[in-house]
Amino acid sequence: MKLLQCLSVLASSALLARSVLASPAASPRLPDTKNTQATASKREENQENEKKEDKPSDPRYFHEPGGNMYLNHYDHMMRSYLIFFHEKNLETWIAHGSLLGWWWNGKMLPWDWDIDTQVPDQTLYYLGENYNQTTYQYRAAGEAKIRNYLIDVNPHFREREHGDGANFIDARWIDMDNGLYIDITGLSELDPATKPGVWSCKNFHDYRTADIYPLRDTFFEGVPARIPYAYDKVLLDEYHEKALVVTDFEGHRWDATRREWLRVQDQAVTPRHDGPHLGSKALRRRAAPEQQQQQQQQHSPAEKAT
Ligand SMILES: *[C@@H]1O[C@H](CO)[C@@H](O)[C@H](O)[C@H]1NC(C)=O
Repeated sequence: MKLLQCLSVLASSALLARSVLASPAASPRLPDTKNTQATASKREENQENEKKEDKPSDPRYFHEPGGNMYLNHYDHMMRSYLIFFHEKNLETWIAHGSLLGWWWNGKMLPWDWDIDTQVPDQTLYYLGENYNQTTYQYRAAGEAKIRNYLIDVNPHFREREHGDGANFIDARWIDMDNGLYIDITGLSELDPATKPGVWSCKNFHDYRTADIYPLRDTFFEGVPARIPYAYDKVLLDEYHEKALVVTDFEGHRWDATRREWLRVQDQAVTPRHDGPHLGSKALRRRAAPEQQQQQQQQHSPAEKAT
């Protein structure tokens, strides 16, 4: 997955690569049949519940028509990860498609099935030595359910070279309910003697120290997060200008008023200039009060750019 992504980036077709990699069909996130079945039955359960009630029992849990129920898991997974790293004072920042999502509205791109974070190699070592196989219990605000996440550190994380390509992912933050996970990639100064200040991940992304540090404090999915200092340069290098400009993507359209990526299908049933309370059911769910509040609290990426 990562290899493909990187090679495609090298071939300057990041957007194409995303359209392939980001599609659910190409998702690597269904690790085994058991989990797939479990998830499928949960999905049916959710759809059942949705039929029964006009509005979801918890407004934060909207289910898109056609059902992309994974997004709920993704939100919690991302928040729990960021909160854990924040609590433990461990350095991490959001990367790749997640950083691009932040750039647009401080959230994950709704079609992106890949959550990516990066850590410096020192943090990776520390994680390996102190937190491998640790379970983190997370309870979302206003929710009774406890969610468990497992930290799994790749035993080969100390091999900082590209190697045979089999060990690109250094660590994972795994949702123990369903096996979904966040890819955590370590960055190292591979060759301080001849290439000082060049930080590389195992899959050929290079960054300069000044691209990353000092990290900027921001919010992602409503919780404190960090991003590389030169996030705009990092994004342009990886995705080119198009990804910051194109507002029709992967069946979604950027709604500048709501500052949301909306599915084109949803927009078709709602006049573009409707207020948030006049739209279709699906759109009202998207604009649930807590989400709006969260959005207001979030630092606007556009403001930060100045
Ligand atoms: C983390 O734990 C797993 C499971 O016990 C083990 O296979 C792996 O080698 C450990 N990683 C490190 C870095 O020790």
